[in-house]
Amino acid sequence: MQAGKTEVFRILAQSLNRAATLREALDGALPRIVELAGAEAGWIFLRDGETDDFLLAADVNLPVPLLMGGKHRMTGECRCLQMLQDGQLTQAVNVVECRRLEQALPASPQRHRHASVPLRSHAGDVIGLLNLLLPAGGSLGRADLDVLEALGHEVAVAVQRVQLFEEARHREARMRQLTQRLLTAQEDERRRIAQDLHDHAGQVMSALSMQLRHLRAHLGEAERARIASELDRFGTMTDQGLEEIHKLVYDLRPPVLDEYGLVAAVRAYVHSHLQPAGMHVELKTAGTESRCSRDVETAAYRIIQEATTNALRHAEATRLEIRIDQRQDSVTVAVRDNGIGFDTKAAPTRATLGLDGMRERAELVSGTFQLISAPGQGTTIVARLPFPPQRRRRNER
Ligand SMILES: Nc1ncnc2c1ncn2[C@@H]1O[C@H](COP(=O)(O)OP(=O)(O)O)[C@@H](O)[C@H]1O
Ligand SMILES: [Mg+2]
Repeated sequence: MQAGKTEVFRILAQSLNRAATLREALDGALPRIVELAGAEAGWIFLRDGETDDFLLAADVNLPVPLLMGGKHRMTGECRCLQMLQDGQLTQAVNVVECRRLEQALPASPQRHRHASVPLRSHAGDVIGLLNLLLPAGGSLGRADLDVLEALGHEVAVAVQRVQLFEEARHREARMRQLTQRLLTAQEDERRRIAQDLHDHAGQVMSALSMQLRHLRAHLGEAERARIASELDRFGTMTDQGLEEIHKLVYDLRPPVLDEYGLVAAVRAYVHSHLQPAGMHVELKTAGTESRCSRDVETAAYRIIQEATTNALRHAEATRLEIRIDQRQDSVTVAVRDNGIGFDTKAAPTRATLGLDGMRERAELVSGTFQLISAPGQGTTIVARLPFPPQRRRRNER
């Protein structure tokens, strides 16, 4: 290779290494390869992981007849792909009489040959084919063969790398979707159970409580002396049961969250759960007159719930500050306690869901989550949850 070619080769290798997507890798590399190899045109077929078919993945300078009709001549079987699949393209570089070119350029028999470089993975599996249309009447010398072989190797390595990368990204996106679906299903299930409990068990207990009162009011003298204290006991038990049901309903999914939104739900939660536990709570809200989407409200509520539960359970805190700051396009929630704090870098001694769950909930709505803590310094969490404008809504449900 001449000095100029070495430079092009270096640039090519660099751009292949930097590419993050298949498109970037191929679109960046193929024109340079065509130039470097002194070819007229070039194209790359890649094996589809699912169907095993070889599909056109990139092309440069294709002769016009091959471009026409949405490049339909570039689909389907051809000799080189057939030979590749039959294991006949054994050389690093092969010269193939191409049927596509024969049909597309019937008047130019000297342009029917292309070089085919099988693209092999590290494990030796064929992942694709790089074809270069040789210049009319040109033939391949030793130096050209070496260049093509090296190019084929560079491309194969890069393709495999970005394919693995894209696969990992897809897998991660699928996991995200799955987690989101699971969380949504969990919230729906909680809402349904809460509703059922309220509508059925709750109604029965309410009716029972009323009937006991009615019964007691209509007891005769003699009966009153005999069973009034028993009835009182049943009444107390019924009322306790009813209270338990209300608490369960609330813990499953507070109806106020769906009906009146985040701030109202958090305010109720402070009154029912935090203040009775002896916590001094300051709730500060700003700009919260409109409702955000249900996903964001749920995420914000569950994050506040987890952070404050942590403060109650672990922090030995006496004061809690909860902030809800809703802007045009996002809501930021922050919870700070004045407790013992902890080392956030220390490896967890057991698998827990709380801190990771808060981060996951924030990230699932494309938000961010920050945990700030140190021994003796108290703990603060901040979650910023954006919502796209079309998902914003008035206080409508
Ligand atoms: N506000 C806090 N103050 C002190 N320590 C905390 C606080 N929040 C979390 N931690 C520590 O981090 C650990 C993990 O929290 P988390 O993931 O919520 O799990 P869990 O609450 O089930 O223990 C807790 O066990 C506790 O040691
Ligand atoms: Mg926890």
